[in-house]
Amino acid sequence: MANLFTNLAGITSPNPFWLASAPPTNSGYQIMKAFDAGWGGAVWKTLGVPVVNVSSRYGALNYRDTRMMGLNNIELITDRPLKDNLKEIEEVKKYFPKHAVIASLMVETREQWHQIVKDAENAGADGLELNFGCPHGMCERGMGSAVGQEPHVLKTIVGWVKEVATTPVIVKLTPNITDITVPAVAASQGGGDAISLINTIQSLTGVDIDNFVPYPVVDGKSTHGGYCGPAVKPIALNMVKECARHPEVKIPISGIGGIENWRDAVEHILLGASSVQVCTAVMHYGFGIIREMVAGLEQYMDEKGFQTLDEMVGRAVPNVQNWENLNLKYKVVADINADKCIGCQLCYTACDDGAHQAIGLVEGSRVPEIIEENCVGCNLCSLVCPVEDCITMVRRDDGSEDLTWAERTAAGDIPNTFNDQRGGGVGHYVPEPKEGLKKN
Ligand SMILES: Cc1cc2nc3c(=O)[nH]c(=O)nc-3n(C[C@H](O)[C@H](O)[C@H](O)COP(=O)(O)O)c2cc1C
Repeated sequence: MANLFTNLAGITSPNPFWLASAPPTNSGYQIMKAFDAGWGGAVWKTLGVPVVNVSSRYGALNYRDTRMMGLNNIELITDRPLKDNLKEIEEVKKYFPKHAVIASLMVETREQWHQIVKDAENAGADGLELNFGCPHGMCERGMGSAVGQEPHVLKTIVGWVKEVATTPVIVKLTPNITDITVPAVAASQGGGDAISLINTIQSLTGVDIDNFVPYPVVDGKSTHGGYCGPAVKPIALNMVKECARHPEVKIPISGIGGIENWRDAVEHILLGASSVQVCTAVMHYGFGIIREMVAGLEQYMDEKGFQTLDEMVGRAVPNVQNWENLNLKYKVVADINADKCIGCQLCYTACDDGAHQAIGLVEGSRVPEIIEENCVGCNLCSLVCPVEDCITMVRRDDGSEDLTWAERTAAGDIPNTFNDQRGGGVGHYVPEPKEGLKKN
């Protein structure tokens, strides 16, 4: 049976599922309720000099039937008194000694950092997370992502924390940066024990077009917020992978961003995360989602023969290559299962207008056909097809050849992938004569 016991840089928990620092970890009440439901750890809502928050605070991107596919917030750190939070940390640790309680921290000066580290550790926190990621409000005061965007400042503050910390220090990174590995390396070199990513992405989710104000509206005005939820998972996965494969990032990773179910968590773990953190999904569905997450991860590990999480961490990383190392000889084409096809012809429209004119219509039938010589195997038709497994990609090369762009250019043979891959030519388009246009 799979063992979900987790150890991230010395912070241990019964499973890798932690609540991210956010509204679900605002109080001891919530964290104890979450631990009872099955969560393995929690990163407390960021502690610092308490702030005053605004109303309203959240905006969302709804996509078709999916509500809150992306969530935007302009909330700052905790607005509760520090002493109340510290008292509750102590209480949680008393009832749940085996669960991970991590104090997220954000202050300004060296003295403040020293004091808050000592306060959090005295209260019983198992570890510290330095919030260098918040991209709104606090960064305008020189904290949060303003630190995460300046590697030397980040390194200096990690150093201040390490001067007094006796528990592991996780450095939480901002995705609002060109190259995530720069602050990740700085965190590692500065003495951080782990990194966590991603915090939220600067965003506006929309505009009230009647009143000319973006959301969320605060008395007729707005400000940019931080974006999270399912929409950011692809960005988070890429950044986690970039850190995991960077040789100078020598510390473990806690993966955050768009995790809603066990599969999302497995993806983060396979790309290098040793624990995962969840915020938006809990704000949407509550703590109960943990049951499916734990059961799903256990079943996956059993099926794959993984006994411990360590066996899984980063397993997909070696399979992520730079583009130039992909096999140009690998060739797939689309295949339509006529029995499953509902005849919507969306694949035809997408391919003809938006891709490579490799799908044709057949007289007397609603089922389109693949024109193999034009098909470059781009996947678009299978992605737009509304029927699961109706359009699949089938392999056409025999697997005997492996040639990369890097190898070809090294051999002095500059390939033209367009001509190499495409058998057919583009169709000849003859516009309909338009009313009023002079004919030659
Ligand atoms: C309303 C809200 C408040 C947040 N507050 C904090 C915070 O105080 N400290 C922090 O480090 N991250 C904060 N975050 C960011 C989350 O911890 C997390 O990094 C981000 O939401 C991505 O995870 P998700 O896609 O699971 O939501 C907040 C997120 C939201 C939505």
